[in-house]
Amino acid sequence: MLNASFRLDPAFTVAPVSRRTFGSFVEHMGRCVYTGIYEPSHPTADADGFRPDVLALTRELGVSLVRYPGGNFVSGYRWEDGVGPVADRPVRRDLAWHSLETNEVGIDEFMRWAAKAGVEVMYALNLGTRGVQEALDVHEYLNHPSGTRLSEQRRENGADTPYGIRMFCLGNEMDGPWQTGHKTAHEYGRLAAETGRALRAAEPGLELIACGSSGSSMPTFGAWESEVLELAYDQVDYVSAHAYYEVIDGDLGSFLASAVDMDHFIDSVVATADSVAARLKSAKRLKISFDEWNVWYLRKFEADRSYDEWPIAPRVIEDTYNVADAVVVGGLLISLLRHSDRVAAACQAQLVNVIAPIRTEPGGPAWRQTTFHPFALTSRLAKGNVLRVEVSSPVYPTARFGDVPVVDAVATHDPGSGDVTVFVVNRDQSSSVDLSVLLGGSYEVAESWTLSDPDLTATNTLEEPDRVVPRPGSAAVATDGTLTASLPPVSWSAIRLSPRT
Ligand code: AHR
Repeated sequence: MLNASFRLDPAFTVAPVSRRTFGSFVEHMGRCVYTGIYEPSHPTADADGFRPDVLALTRELGVSLVRYPGGNFVSGYRWEDGVGPVADRPVRRDLAWHSLETNEVGIDEFMRWAAKAGVEVMYALNLGTRGVQEALDVHEYLNHPSGTRLSEQRRENGADTPYGIRMFCLGNEMDGPWQTGHKTAHEYGRLAAETGRALRAAEPGLELIACGSSGSSMPTFGAWESEVLELAYDQVDYVSAHAYYEVIDGDLGSFLASAVDMDHFIDSVVATADSVAARLKSAKRLKISFDEWNVWYLRKFEADRSYDEWPIAPRVIEDTYNVADAVVVGGLLISLLRHSDRVAAACQAQLVNVIAPIRTEPGGPAWRQTTFHPFALTSRLAKGNVLRVEVSSPVYPTARFGDVPVVDAVATHDPGSGDVTVFVVNRDQSSSVDLSVLLGGSYEVAESWTLSDPDLTATNTLEEPDRVVPRPGSAAVATDGTLTASLPPVSWSAIRLSPRT
C-alpha cells in the first residue's frame, strides 16, 4: 500500500476555471462529420440531417467550444464550396486525408449544429493554400452584419444575423511538412501577422491564435514559436499547442505519465512566448490554445495508411480506447486545469469517431468510449477557481520522463456553493494508494467517482457499450477536516465535497 497527501486552501488559486478548457474538435476527416454529427439517412436524423444521439452525447460530455473545420483538412479547404444550394456544391479532393469531400456540410450547416449542441465555435482559417484575402472573405461571410456581398450571401443562405465567431486559428500546424502549403517560420510569421492585422481592421475584438509548432518533438519546436511570435506578437492573443500520446514499445509506465510531458510542454511554450515579450518590451502576455490533444495510436495509423483510393468518409483513426487510455485522458485534463492561468482554451481531438470519445455506427447507435467519462465528469465538476495543489507522493521510474509522481491531482473551489472538487490519478500499476487531503474546513463527500478496472485493456464497444464506466466509490470519507480515499491501481477519480451545514 502506498500513501499520498496534499492540503487545500481556497486562498491559493491558480485562476478561474475557463469553460473553454472543455473544447472539442470537428474536422472534415474520416467519419467525424459524415455519419458522425451528420447522417440524414439515419432513422432518427432531425430535419437538418443531424444525429440527435450525437447531439445529446455532446451535451452530456459538457463540450463548451468546438474547433472547425480542421486540422490538416483546412489547409486545402475552400470555404465557399460549402455554402449555398447543396446540389450546386462541388466534390473536391482532400489531400490531407486522401478522401473526397462532398461539401454537403459547410459552415452554415455546422453553425446550425453548434447552436443545437450549445457550443461556441473556434474557426480555423486556411493559411496553407490561401492568404489574407480569403481569410477576410470568410470573416465577412461569418461575422459582418449585412449590406456587403458576402454578408448578404450568408443572409440569403438563411443566416440573417451574423454568427459572431470570436476565436480564429490563423492556419493549422504550419511547420508540419505534411501540411498542404507548409511554411518556414518566417513565411508563416509574416502571413499570420498580416492576416491578423487585416482581421483586426475588420473586427478589433477578435481573439486570434497563431500556430505554435505542431508538437514538442518537432525539430522546429521552440525556435518556431520564437520566430513566429517575434513577427506576429502584437496581432495575436494565443499561441497553439498540439499533443497526442500513445503507448510506445509497450511502455505503459511512461504512457501513464503523459501529463508530465504536457506540463513540460506548456511550461516551455509559456517561457518561449514570455521571452519574446521581454525582447519586444511588451507587457502583453499570450495565452495558450491547446487546440488538439488526446490519446492517438498514431504509429498504427501511419503503418496502415493507404493512398490507393479516394473514399468518402472512410473509417480513419477510429481508435478504440481502453481503461488506461481513459486514465491518461483524465490526467491530461488535470494538467490543463493546473495551467489555467495560461491555458485559456483546449480542444480534445476529435469529437466523434476520429480518435473520439463518441463512436457511432452508420444507421445504428452511438456510444461512449472509456475516455468520454473523465472528460464529462471534469467538465461537470470543475467549477469556480483552480486551486494550487502540491502533492506529496512516492515516485516511480519511467524510461521517457525519469522519476514521476505516482499520484497527480488538481482541485477546484466554487466560491458560490463552497464546493471543492478533487481530481486525482493513481499511476501505479499494482498498488492502491491511500490518499489524505487536509481540507482546512468541515466538508462532506457529496459525490465520488472512480474509473478503474482490473483489466486495463477493457473497452466499450457496440456490443458492450457500458463495459467501462466510472463507479461511485474510492471509499472517500471526509471527517475532521480531512478527506481520505483509497485509489485503485491505474485509476482516475473525481471527488466533490460540500461544506457541512
Ligand atoms: O486530429 C487529427 C490531425 O492531427 C489534425 O488534422 C492535425 O492538425 C493533427 O496533426
